[in-house]
Amino acid sequence: MGSTTETVTTAPSGRLFSKGTDVKYGDFRDDLLQNGFAVVKGAVPRERALKYADGIYEWLEGFNLGFKRDDPSTIHKDHLPDINEKGMCLGYAVSHESFTWGVRQEPNVIEAFEKVYDTPDLIVSFDSIGIGFPNRKDIQPNKPWPHQDQDPEKPGFRCLQGLVNLLPNGPKDGGLIVCKGAHLLSEEFHEEFKNEEEKIWSWTKEWYGFTEKGLKWLEKKGCEWIKIEAEPGDLLLWDSRTPHYNVSSETNQPRFCVYTCFMPVADATKEQLLIKKKAFEETKMTTHWPNAMHVVDLPVYRNGEADPYQRSSPREPVQLSDRGFKLTGIPYLEQMA
Ligand SMILES: [Fe+2]
Repeated sequence: MGSTTETVTTAPSGRLFSKGTDVKYGDFRDDLLQNGFAVVKGAVPRERALKYADGIYEWLEGFNLGFKRDDPSTIHKDHLPDINEKGMCLGYAVSHESFTWGVRQEPNVIEAFEKVYDTPDLIVSFDSIGIGFPNRKDIQPNKPWPHQDQDPEKPGFRCLQGLVNLLPNGPKDGGLIVCKGAHLLSEEFHEEFKNEEEKIWSWTKEWYGFTEKGLKWLEKKGCEWIKIEAEPGDLLLWDSRTPHYNVSSETNQPRFCVYTCFMPVADATKEQLLIKKKAFEETKMTTHWPNAMHVVDLPVYRNGEADPYQRSSPREPVQLSDRGFKLTGIPYLEQMA
């Protein structure tokens, strides 16, 4: 009997970037290392992704404000819940709706983050969803706001952001634009720009907006801005250091997505997990940071007054699998007690 020689390639252990950027994983992680973004094709089966999109349409129609998915003339703020020009919907407990939690609990979505952090012990953000309708004249235009979602004073890989795309999203259908490779230049950039005079105001330290000068610097370094194209069910991932923003659709195609951001529970303090537990119990929204760094509880307006259609809980109580419940951080908190 002859012997065979087998070459076994084992993916490096530890969190992504912990072994530098010259290692090879043989999957989407290589793109994250090199480019600062990646697409996991079909992380959610297409049929299921379209079902989640249906769920969002049903939810929008359920406000009974006159919106009908087949009638573009009803795409108007008078017929819709409050959605800003960036497509962000920040009210109505949408972070805890069935479709939102459904996407967060998708096994292949969770698995992608498990691979990146090399642990199954993760928590998920109670983030928003994106609802971008084309040809909107009833709200202000969406201007580019290139930014990083990370404190310049806290360098290194800290957070992987993600979204699950739910509708066909071609080159002109709007969506996420990323600056390829700029995650690796972040430290150098902030060293150079630390005494920048014209800083863009931010309500949180975990956000940095690029000025014209900053964008020129990136351009000189040869960085290219890429609009990511995606099919229903594709998971888009990007390093928080990667400059990004979104653009509106230039076609008749709407864009729906659910933001999914996970981090190891070990990165959160007990205090943060307590805040997160409260946010979950009160079905409140957080930003993309899964450690509930910021709980979002902003008033929602309709014609300048408190929106009478605002609500503080989802249509149905949140349904979680055991795996999903772990993602709230609550079981880990119980272990700490
Ligand atoms: Fe962002």
